[in-house]
Amino acid sequence: MSASVRLSCGLIGFVDSTETDRTQSFAVAPIFIAMSWFLFFLSTIFVCCRANVCPCERPELCQQIREERDFEVFVFDVGGKTWKSYNWSMVTTVATFGKYDAELMCHAHSKGARVVLKGDVPLSDIVDQDNRTAWITEKVSQAKSQFMDGINIDIEQAVEEDSPEYHALTALVKESTETFHREIPGSQVSFDVAWSLKCIDKRCYDYITIAESCDLLFVMSYDEQSQIMGDCIAMANAPLHQTLAAYDQFIEMNIDPKKLVMGVPWYGYDYPCLNLSKEGICSIAKVPFCGAPCSDAAGKQKPYKWIMKQVNVSMSGRLWDDKQQAPYFNYEDQGGQIHQVWYDDPQSICPKADSVKSKGLRGIGMWNGNILDYSDEPVARQQTAEMWNALLGC
Ligand SMILES: *[C@@H]1O[C@H](CO)[C@@H](O)[C@H](O)[C@H]1NC(C)=O
Ligand SMILES: *[C@@H]1O[C@H](CO)[C@@H](O)[C@H](O)[C@H]1NC(C)=O
Ligand SMILES: *[C@@H]1O[C@H](CO)[C@@H](O)[C@H](O)[C@H]1NC(C)=O
Ligand SMILES: *[C@@H]1O[C@H](CO)[C@@H](O)[C@H](O)[C@H]1NC(C)=O
Repeated sequence: MSASVRLSCGLIGFVDSTETDRTQSFAVAPIFIAMSWFLFFLSTIFVCCRANVCPCERPELCQQIREERDFEVFVFDVGGKTWKSYNWSMVTTVATFGKYDAELMCHAHSKGARVVLKGDVPLSDIVDQDNRTAWITEKVSQAKSQFMDGINIDIEQAVEEDSPEYHALTALVKESTETFHREIPGSQVSFDVAWSLKCIDKRCYDYITIAESCDLLFVMSYDEQSQIMGDCIAMANAPLHQTLAAYDQFIEMNIDPKKLVMGVPWYGYDYPCLNLSKEGICSIAKVPFCGAPCSDAAGKQKPYKWIMKQVNVSMSGRLWDDKQQAPYFNYEDQGGQIHQVWYDDPQSICPKADSVKSKGLRGIGMWNGNILDYSDEPVARQQTAEMWNALLGC
């Protein structure tokens, strides 16, 4: 999602080991095929019927959410139990990128919030119509057996314009939406897009048709330095003006603003500086990406929780960049290496959240919900509450 392990541009690395195993067992003896199909059949029944028992205390909590709320607050959850401390009075959708957690599903439903599956598949596998249909059928049946309210399709793969994968992706979103809506009334199908439409990271998708074909686009307004064309220096993860200008482009292309959810980062980038100039400019190592000479891949992604501790032991304290409208600081590590950290905090998120309202977007969300400090420390509690509240504007 947020490219903590960034694949090289255009490379869709995928090794399906189960496929190899199956081919080998086919070669061994045909009787195994019959036996394994029988076992597979039995396990399907077992898995299906066991999972179909409602795990919630109250059976009505297994019913899928049908009502629409005016303003989306879309949360990515990557696992663990910190969801218990989310501000549930604002959450409307949780996309579960960790392993299935029935307790989370029951809790979200008790708050009227949707819980949606993660959908990811190598595009080369779903160019074939039968394969595509099989993938969608499998996802819908998984959603039903886990009492989920839809799917978030997160295909962050490079695609050439007008290639078979380009058309397959558009069809995947359209067919997923039709099938989910038909099979699970009220369900939601969303699709994650990069911060800009302009083939960022070589993702040349048919954005207009995709937007028309699903319920909402989650715009990942972060990792905006994945292709640095100018000086190789540390910069903001999501500079304000660049972030907002991209929404104007979406809207100019006649994408309905009510289909757009703005994704803000609850993480930042920690860059080791090759040199920190007197003016505070941190030059970074040249790590090329997608045709650009350098990239945020020279830095490491750090959660807000870590950032809030680190700023207190920094050399500079919190600084503010007026041009990018973002906070940053410099620190020295134990080996004497100087680092510059760029991040988002309530002051940088507030104006973004305000423009979600002024541009009439569907809502806001973040990558990801788990990375705040949910401990009982009073300072942490306050910082965490402020980050949640910043989602609703200043
Ligand atoms: C169908 O998908 C499987 C993996 O799920 C893949 O190995 C296979 O090559 C695909 N078939 C076609 C025709 O794309
Ligand atoms: C590093 O920063 C210093 C101090 O600003 C500057 O004088 C020097 O030219 C810089 N060196 C390089 C290699 O950029
Ligand atoms: C950081 O320092 C401030 C000021 O000294 C203090 O109030 C705060 O508790 C510290 N924050 C953290 C997360 O340690
Ligand atoms: C949770 O969000 C609501 C707004 O929906 C806000 O009024 C409330 O203060 C927040 N709760 C906390 C603990 O910050």
